[in-house]
Amino acid sequence: MTYRIVPIRRASAQQLAEIHQQCLSPGWHAIDFTTLCNDPAYDGFAIEENQLKIVGFIDLHVVVDEAEVYALCIMPGHRGKGLGRRLLVELFKEAHKRGIRKIFLEVSERNASGKYLYGAFGFKEVGRRCGYYPMVDQGTTAIVLCAHPWESGQGNGGKR
Ligand SMILES: CC(C)(COP(=O)(O)OP(=O)(O)OC[C@H]1O[C@@H](n2cnc3c(N)ncnc32)[C@H](O)[C@@H]1OP(=O)(O)O)[C@@H](O)C(=O)NCCC(=O)NCCS
Repeated sequence: MTYRIVPIRRASAQQLAEIHQQCLSPGWHAIDFTTLCNDPAYDGFAIEENQLKIVGFIDLHVVVDEAEVYALCIMPGHRGKGLGRRLLVELFKEAHKRGIRKIFLEVSERNASGKYLYGAFGFKEVGRRCGYYPMVDQGTTAIVLCAHPWESGQGNGGKR
């Protein structure tokens, strides 16, 4: 099985929605991804298995030198193989290329794997949003995290 990273494309909206719905709640629909792909500030990377099927992705919105990650999703059957890490490495490479100085994202306080992975890439808590995930356990709190890709030591996932 081989995996390769490709830019997110509008034609992949249906696949992205299926993955989002399997990984996060509430899941987004194909129309959401189609709309996002029409926005020039939207960007992202997908992981293709055997150059065919998308099995994960990271997507973001970039304004000047700041980015907000919307989602990082790896299909359940493909987790634990370092694909989440690969997408974050790609995100930091892109940040360096485009001069992005701050990357923000939200993660549920109950999401152990997400918190571990983001922490390994230097994301630090900068805020909390109570009840941010209304569909999860009657409103789970989101932790707002921020990373500074231009600071030394960030963006390698602790693997330098
Ligand atoms: C979070 C997610 C993207 C991780 O993807 P993945 O491809 O399995 O991650 P990787 O294989 O790259 O593993 C990265 C690290 O996380 C660790 N990890 C995985 N699950 C873990 C858990 N439950 N608790 C602690 N660490 C965990 C791995 O051991 C690995 O660490 P290591 O490289 O130091 O050994 C994936 O689980 C997912 O899609 N979850 C649902 C969506 C989600 O929660 N996204 C994040 C918030 S938007």
